[in-house]
Amino acid sequence: MASAKTIARTLLLLAPLVGLAACMAIPSTQAGHASQAPPGAAFGKPVSEQDLASWDIDIRTKDGIGLPPGKGDAVLGRAVFEQQCIACHGEKAKGGPVFGTMVGGIGSFKTNTRVLTPGSMYPYAPILFDYIRRAMPMNAPQSLTNDQVYAVSAYILHLNGLVGESDQLNAQTMPAIVMPNRNGFIVDDRPDTSAVRCMTNCK
Ligand code: HEC
Repeated sequence: MASAKTIARTLLLLAPLVGLAACMAIPSTQAGHASQAPPGAAFGKPVSEQDLASWDIDIRTKDGIGLPPGKGDAVLGRAVFEQQCIACHGEKAKGGPVFGTMVGGIGSFKTNTRVLTPGSMYPYAPILFDYIRRAMPMNAPQSLTNDQVYAVSAYILHLNGLVGESDQLNAQTMPAIVMPNRNGFIVDDRPDTSAVRCMTNCK
């Protein structure tokens, strides 16, 4: 069976074609309603909430809004890391064949010899959850459970000296971590950047 992701991707690819077909073939009062397209132009299927669920994973990283339920600590995270991450990121995340270290460099962000790691760079800890859930392991993104993502995030933060080995990370504790580089970025003060990102019932 095609996965939700494959279907959603296909629908996204087809969307412009459906729109084009609608403009060409349907009276203007019906334009935009692909389900009313005449036979021949009717392909694809409506996108369900379930289809979209795996795409709807935004986290407002500053305060952690959008972090899912679940929890994990560095002990479990180490096991996940050694199974699923070590091949690319190296032992204890010190660097592997395709990516450099994810540990250390704290305090180097504003120097000429900066070492960029989650510990030295990220202003907010939930960025780590968001990044790993979306993109890692690179060969199988979105294959980890939320508990595994919390756990492996805890492990990387622990290697950076930012949480204890058995500290539980969850939707409450993760945003409460004060990252060393929280104030290291210059805030963009152009007027159109001041909006607060909407997370529920957005227009
Ligand atoms: C197949 C190789 C591969 C595997 C396996 C892999 N990664 Fe990665 N990872 C990468 C690459 C390559 C990048 C850099 C991507 C980029 O910069 O676009 C990266 C980047 C990252 C980053 C961002 C680092 C930063 O400095 O911002 C994190 C965090 C991360 N990986 C965590 C993980 C975790 C956790 C796992 C295991 C669950 C994992 N990765 C498995 C290849 C891999």
